[in-house]
Amino acid sequence: MPLAGGSRVLADQQVKPNCLPRQSHTCPPFTASRWSSARRRSLVCSVTVRAHAAQTLQGCKLAGSGSSVPEAVLSNTDLEKLVETNDEWIASRTGIRRRHVLAQGESLSQHAATAAQRALEMAGIAAGDVDLIILATSSPDDLFGSACQVQALIGAKKALCFDLTAACSGFVVGLVTGAQFIRTGTYRNVLVIGADALSRYVDWRDRGTCILFGDGCGAVVLTQQQGEQPCSLLGSSMASDGLGQKHLNAMYCGEGMKPLHETHASARGSFENISMSGQEVFKFAVRAVPTVVEAALANAGRTKDEVDWLVLHQANQRILDSAATRLGVPSDRVISNLAEYGNTSAASIPLALDEAVRANTIVPGNVLALAGFGAGLTWASAIVRWG
Ligand code: UT7
Repeated sequence: MPLAGGSRVLADQQVKPNCLPRQSHTCPPFTASRWSSARRRSLVCSVTVRAHAAQTLQGCKLAGSGSSVPEAVLSNTDLEKLVETNDEWIASRTGIRRRHVLAQGESLSQHAATAAQRALEMAGIAAGDVDLIILATSSPDDLFGSACQVQALIGAKKALCFDLTAACSGFVVGLVTGAQFIRTGTYRNVLVIGADALSRYVDWRDRGTCILFGDGCGAVVLTQQQGEQPCSLLGSSMASDGLGQKHLNAMYCGEGMKPLHETHASARGSFENISMSGQEVFKFAVRAVPTVVEAALANAGRTKDEVDWLVLHQANQRILDSAATRLGVPSDRVISNLAEYGNTSAASIPLALDEAVRANTIVPGNVLALAGFGAGLTWASAIVRWG
């Protein structure tokens, strides 16, 4: 039986609390059928509402952060030996001075595991109590995903683990995904890791890209707070545009299936180097970042004046400055560490967040506007309360 009007109101109120993005619960459009559209609408709505009504949404807290980067460093001066560039050009056009890169024999999973362990330690949660590990990455050690390797390394025996690929937006998308599992009561402790080693895909002869990227990992722990506790995820907004993929990609370049005989007994897949139209991505970023942050703020029912810190994807200082100006956020409230690490893709937001938390720059109760953007094209923002 469809729920009565009164139950519908109650159910909507239960769905509302501030962690799940505020969505209008309108019914999907219907195709022609022998049922009247009104009858089908009422049935489908009742199913949706009944599903929500059965759940009590749980509170969700951002309880810890951690990070890990390789020791090996490539400075701008080092790059001068590889391509026609110079420290002054790179620093003034991007803000980047150095980047950390994986050495031979080092794995991304190992750094992701270290970042995860540090986040768990801050949160006071044992690895054995982790229910879910989401590893946001575009450069896993294993084509089939590296989240399970991280699980094995930290001993999170009971966790479900999967990789999530949304390039430099991956961490924010992973955070929102993890929070949904906690809000609905499915899981209690979720590790969200952003980890990338794009140095593996950089053409070190291409000065348009090789100056930008570095390797690193960052992680956060989300924990369930019993009942209707305040939620750390205040609002979000996420988007994609596959038509923009041509501006930034690293395409598969295998040869396809060959006739199987002795000389072609196996195929080896590989990917091209990163290909980027810098100016197009720059224009996209300065447009998309303020827009998506404003949409996430609206979703959270907050204003920009309530934002303590902007923690944006660390791609280019000029993009950070432009976004801050458009949003009217003073530059001293923008977290920036790209001088040291360059663009670490999915890792850049949790790495910047973790450094700021450990420096007591970001303190419990601070409201943060996170925003990632990059290949896909994808862009995503989450408004969160730290601690
Ligand atoms: O995660 C998202 C990933 N990507 C991004 O966010 C990248 C967004 N784009 C950017 O950050 C910038 O477009 C770049 C930093 C990549 C390039 O900066 P730009 O100000 O857009 O430079 P440009 O491509 O317009 O090039 C300006 C000049 C050109 O020379 P001419 O034609 O004016 O003589 C380039 O050939 O600078 C030259 N140039 C360089 N010179 C020294 C380009 N790269 C370099 C270099 N060193 N590394």
